[in-house]
Amino acid sequence: MEKQIVTMHEAHDEHEAHEGGGRACMSRRQFLLSGGAVITLAAVPGGLTFAAQALKADYPKVKIGSLSALKLGKPVTFAYPYPGVRNILVRLGAPAGAGVGKDSDVVAFNQQCTHMGGPLDGTYKDKHQVLGPCPLHLTTFDLTRHGMVVSGHGTESLPQIVLETQGDDIYAVGVLGLIHGYSANINGRRS
Ligand code: FES
Repeated sequence: MEKQIVTMHEAHDEHEAHEGGGRACMSRRQFLLSGGAVITLAAVPGGLTFAAQALKADYPKVKIGSLSALKLGKPVTFAYPYPGVRNILVRLGAPAGAGVGKDSDVVAFNQQCTHMGGPLDGTYKDKHQVLGPCPLHLTTFDLTRHGMVVSGHGTESLPQIVLETQGDDIYAVGVLGLIHGYSANINGRRS
């Protein structure tokens, strides 16, 4: 995995370069992630388009499950990168952005809605590989496309837990996006 440490300013220049030099906008997520400090741009397994190439925060590598134990369409929950931060690990049965496993269909996402932090626990819909609708304002997120919003009031994609595999073991190694309630993903400060 190729990594490059850049400053917020350099990240902005990178964006402009990909936009053909046009006026670039920094999303709320990018702004909050930058936090005035350093951020990491990373090539994520599974390949990301630049539009989906969100800023990735590295966290300690933690084993969260195994490929052989995952049942198709049956999410399991785990906490990462801190105790109490609720996520799901799920085998979608369809290739997904940054998915791991032989079919690139194993992904993990945070379970707090990016709109106002509504609980998405228990809302996974196997038929469409989505999480939601959120019980507060009905936002629904597509887990095959990096947690992109497909309906509802939310505008930010769901934070994706970056995964790696070693043999049968699945590890969480970072977070793609900003977990709701945190002012910075780099050091996990709560706002
Ligand atoms: S908090 Fe989830 S849609 Fe508003």
